[in-house]
This record gives sequence, C-alpha cells and structure tokens, in this order.
Amino acid sequence: MIGTSLPRPDATGKVTGAARYPGDLIEPGMLHLKVVFAHRPHARIVRLDTTAAVAYPGVVAVLTAADVPHNAYGLVEPDQPVLCGEVVRFVGDRVALVVATSREAAEVAAGLVEVAYEDLPVLADAALALTPDAPLIHPERGTNLIYHCPIRKGDAEAALATADLVLEGEFSTAWQEHAFLQPEAGIAYVDEDDRVIIHTAGQWLHEDRRQIAEVLGLPEAQVVIRYAAIGGAFGGREDLSVQHLLALAAWKLRQPVAIVWSRGESVMAHHKRHPVTIRCRWGAMRDGRIVAVSATAIGDGGAYASTSQEVIKCVALFLTGCYEVPNIHVDAYAVYTNNLPAGAFRGFGAPQAQFASEVMVTRLAHALGMDPLELRRINLYREGSLEPTQQPLPAGVSVRTCLDTCLTTLATLPALPPPAAPHLKRAWGFACGIKNLGYSFGFPEQATATVELHGAATIAQAIVRIGAADVGQGTHLILRQIAAEALNVTLETVQLIAEDSAEAPNAGSASASRLTMMAGRAVHDAALGALREWQNEERPARITVQYRAPATTPLDAVTTAGRPNYAYGYAAQAVEVEVDIITGQIRIVRIISVHDVGRAINRQQVEGQIEGALAQALGYTLMEHFQMREGRVATPGLSTYLIPTILDTPPEIISVILELADPEGPYGARGMAELPLIPFAPAVADAIYNATGVWLSDLPFTPERVLRALCP
Ligand code: MOS
Repeated sequence: MIGTSLPRPDATGKVTGAARYPGDLIEPGMLHLKVVFAHRPHARIVRLDTTAAVAYPGVVAVLTAADVPHNAYGLVEPDQPVLCGEVVRFVGDRVALVVATSREAAEVAAGLVEVAYEDLPVLADAALALTPDAPLIHPERGTNLIYHCPIRKGDAEAALATADLVLEGEFSTAWQEHAFLQPEAGIAYVDEDDRVIIHTAGQWLHEDRRQIAEVLGLPEAQVVIRYAAIGGAFGGREDLSVQHLLALAAWKLRQPVAIVWSRGESVMAHHKRHPVTIRCRWGAMRDGRIVAVSATAIGDGGAYASTSQEVIKCVALFLTGCYEVPNIHVDAYAVYTNNLPAGAFRGFGAPQAQFASEVMVTRLAHALGMDPLELRRINLYREGSLEPTQQPLPAGVSVRTCLDTCLTTLATLPALPPPAAPHLKRAWGFACGIKNLGYSFGFPEQATATVELHGAATIAQAIVRIGAADVGQGTHLILRQIAAEALNVTLETVQLIAEDSAEAPNAGSASASRLTMMAGRAVHDAALGALREWQNEERPARITVQYRAPATTPLDAVTTAGRPNYAYGYAAQAVEVEVDIITGQIRIVRIISVHDVGRAINRQQVEGQIEGALAQALGYTLMEHFQMREGRVATPGLSTYLIPTILDTPPEIISVILELADPEGPYGARGMAELPLIPFAPAVADAIYNATGVWLSDLPFTPERVLRALCP
C-alpha cells in the first residue's frame, strides 16, 4: 500500500467528464444568483436602488447589506462585509445579490441595480499605506497596518558594522492568480431538518461552516458544507467566495439556489498571492560565514485582512531562508490598500522571502570569490541549528542532503550540444528551499478521524471518516492507502467519508502541505485504535482519534523568541535556462527538483505534485504578471494574464524523492506540496546571471524586463 503508485480512483471520471464539479450540481428549477460588484476601488455608497431590478421578470429577490444577519466575515479577522452597505474598498466588493429564476434574468437585473457612489481617494501603493497622508481603508482601525512581524536575534547592526563584506539588495514580487481550472460555483438549499446545505468547493469544511454559521447567526450544526469534485485550490479557496452568498440566499428564500462565477468574476473577486517588496543587507566574513541579515518587507494585503497576518509572519521567518544567521533584524509588514485582497497561495509567503534570500546568498558568494554551493554548505541549516526565533529547529533537517543529491544528480546528466545560435545563452542555476508544514505560531494544530470496522471473522468493511478536502492533490487516495496499510486490508475494503461537515470530523484545511502528515496520522492512529477494539471482539469496532501535532508558540512580544513550527520540509533545485538575448525570452531547458518527503505514500502523486508545482513556479517566475492600475485590474482574463501551457514546461523534469523519515508523519511521511515552488525563481535568477552576467530582482522575469536588464 505504501510507496506504490496506485492509480487515482477519481481520474477516469475527471478525464471522461463524469466527475461532478460544483457547477455540475445545478438542476432545473433552481434559482440563480448574480453578484453586483462594486467595480470601483474605493467609494462611499450614497444611494442603492433595487426597484428596477426587483421589477424585472423572473427576479425573486435582490439582497443587500440589510438582509445579512451578521455582515462581517474573514478567515483570521472578520473585517470583510458579505454585502457592502456604506463603503466599497476594492473592485470586487459585493454590493447586492440578485436572485432570479434564470441565469439570464439574474444577469440582466444585476445591471438594473442602481448604485450611486461618491468616490474616495484610492490607495493603490503598499509603500504609501503607512505614510501619514494615506487614505485609511478601515478608518475605525486608525491605521492601514494589518500586521507587523519583527524578528530580532543577536545584534544585526553591530555585526554588519564589523562584517568583512556587506551587500544590499532590493527585490519585488507580483500578485499571482491561482487560475484553478474550475471557477467558483455551487448550490445551496434548506433541507427537511431546517439545515442550510451548501454544496460547493473549498479547502476546509469546518472553517467554511464556522464562518457561514456566524454570518447567518445560526448554530454550526444547522449549517452543512459538502464538497463536490474540486478543480484545484492552491490556497485560492481558503477564503469564502460564493459559499456564504449561496447560504444567505438559500436561507432567506428557502429555495434551492445556484451560482457559477465567470473567469472574470473569479479573477476579480478572490484573493491573490501577496506582492512583496524586500530591502535587505547581508553581512559575511571572508571565510564564508554569514554573520548578519537586516531586512524589511512590505506585503500588499489589499482591502481585507484574509490571511495576511499569517502570510507575513511566514515572510519574516524566511527572509533568512534556510541559513543559520546569528544576528537578525527583520521587520515584515502587511498593509491595507484598495487593491485586491491578498492571502493564501501555495508557499504562503515563503516564495517571496526566499527569492530574496537565495539570490543574496549567491551574490555574497560571488562577492567573496567563493563557489555559491560552498557558501551554502558553510551556512545551511543543520540538525540543531537555531532558528531566527532562537529555538532549535525541529528534528529532520535535510536541506544539505537535498543539495548534495541535486549536485550528484546533475553530474549524471549528459551535457547538451551547445545552443543553436550565438544569441542563445545557456546555463544552470541553483537554489534551496524551506517551508513549514502545518499551522504555525501557536495556532491549534489537530486532525480528527473516526474508523469503524465491520465484519465477523475478518474485516469486511472499514469506514474512515475524516473531513479532509481533496482539492485535486489526491488526499483521499492517500488516506485510504494509509488506512488499508494500518488495517492490513485491501484498498477496496476502505470506504472514505470526507466531504460532508456533518458526517466527518474536522481534519483542518487542505493547506500548508499538511494533510498527508496531519490527516494521514489521524487516520493511521484511528485505524490502529479500531484494530485493538476489533481484537477485543467489538463488532463493529469503532474509535475516534484526535492527533495533535507537537505544540508551537507565538513569538514573544519583547524578545521575538519562540517555536514557530513543529516541522519543515526541504528542497533543492537545479534549473537549466536558455536566454535569448535578442528577444529577452527565457526557455526552461531542464529541471532537477529534489525533495525530502519523509516517505512517499504514493510515488506518482508526489511526482505529480512536483511537476504541477513546477509549472506554477514557472508561471510565477517568467510569465504571470498580474497588474493593477489605481486599484483596477489590468489583467482581467487569461488572455492578458498568461499562465504556462504544456508547451512552456520543459520536456525533462527530474524529480528526486528522498525518504528521510519524519518522526511524526504516518509511515514517516512529511508534507511537500508547496516546496517545489520555493527555490525555482531564485534558481532561474541564478541561471540567468550565469548565462548573461545580469541579475534580475523583480518577478516575473518577462522578456521586457530581461531585455531592459541586458540593455539598460
Ligand atoms: Mo495554502 S497557501 O497553505 O492553502
């Protein structure tokens, strides 16, 4: 069961079209919802007139702020209105909800909702958010600061003053759109037990339920979340999008309702990866020891908090990458602006921070006249290294093994014939990566599973209940493999109930590369517990187990010391690029991606995660240039926001899977789904430097930017 490449049971349905995604659940007779969006970045609502919309044939209701029982929600803090009543703070703010008997009627009537606005000054630049004259996005807070995360260790200024070499760097990264294939959609209705059922897509059943119950003012048991087949998430479904709108309409009208967002609505209305600007100084001694890092990072959180607070902590923690630095002075800020809200996206702040840290380490090596890989060997984290937060790292620090394996793998590859023309410059680049696995900084981390064994002499059926979302990453097969292995039964014997908040206990979210470890461990422990009951002749044998990860802590308010994480994953990559110095275009030729996954539960799924994340990393690094102008989206569709296709991905991706067992994970497995995204951009930057002698510091490396760097 463990380590093989069992085929995905859901694959056939997804390929043939038989799988039912949220949009496939819509049935004749359901009412259709259409959101009236603000389409302006900052304005006061002076008048809202729904008369004409309500009068339109087929319209059943037009809901506004006054119809929302508790008009505030959010993953971390409830600062976002369900429907705006007074002020809109970004173009995707929702102002009204039209409910009609057909999609067409809802759409026409949405255009008949009259809203008179008085425009307010637009704050479109995160760097200005904390200046005294900046417009306040949430005036009642008195500041545009969402969160400030300082990290202090040793005395960075003193160490920089006595370092043999100090290098300065400035970096910027762009928004990234999740671009999942399946835009937001779903249905909702009230069932015979007076529960509101929301059948949709998401990353965490029980958190969706918590927020919706709060919005509707209902006990959680009266709200049921069910997930259909999910077409990708990548962090983009952590925040509510359509779920609470569906719930509100179904609850108010007591009729089944449905919604499907267009790609344009999806792009405008769900959060993005944070753009982050980083300024830093790194100090080293002539012998290669990195002695100090001082860095400031500002992340554009957009109009609402979402998970900005947690993302910016991750940025702060990883501004020194995976290197043991004795003196650190870091300040990371997340701020409000009138741009699109920013939140979770695969990597959760780590890609932005480590773009800067990995490039700085390589630049330091060049300035010292050292091999960048040698400088890494001197400074990389090792077992027992102190984190920036002054505590030893959790056990299992394998980044050195990842890097060494990357180099030995590279040595086995044949050299390619030289580029076909003199304007094509080819070179390899390298980078390492680190990412926390699971929830951080004291956030309660648990997963709960129930296992029930039926049969007489032998186990005829094992029912595993765990509310863990399969967003396409393959978690459901992994959990069944783990249960089957622990129970020593066939895969077919294991039935998984995972997609209904009323039928399965809380496993936490499909995020932070955590489900294989956390949900996997809960299923593993519950399976062994049920087996003990079975051996005691219980029929059926049934047990519920909550697995709690080793505790983490918030950082001390004065010393900033603490234990932010209970586990990390590590990676190293080598990327070969070819730069066309006439067009500025970059082709990725070959990639070696090395990952310590503890134990590959399903080898093909691990490879799938590596290849998928690399495609996303390639887009992030070279193509995906999400742009806003004065709070308006300048890249509203997939014709202006370019994501990679199969033709952009290299024919050769060499995935190297290391299995250095994690002490906590089920069968030693540790999470890995975010990691391939982290070293990629700095490895490409390094390769471009090695090919052309110029450093690029602003992501993405579009042809225009490459040319500007080559011919300033
Ligand atoms: Mo994720 S960015 O941990 O959903």
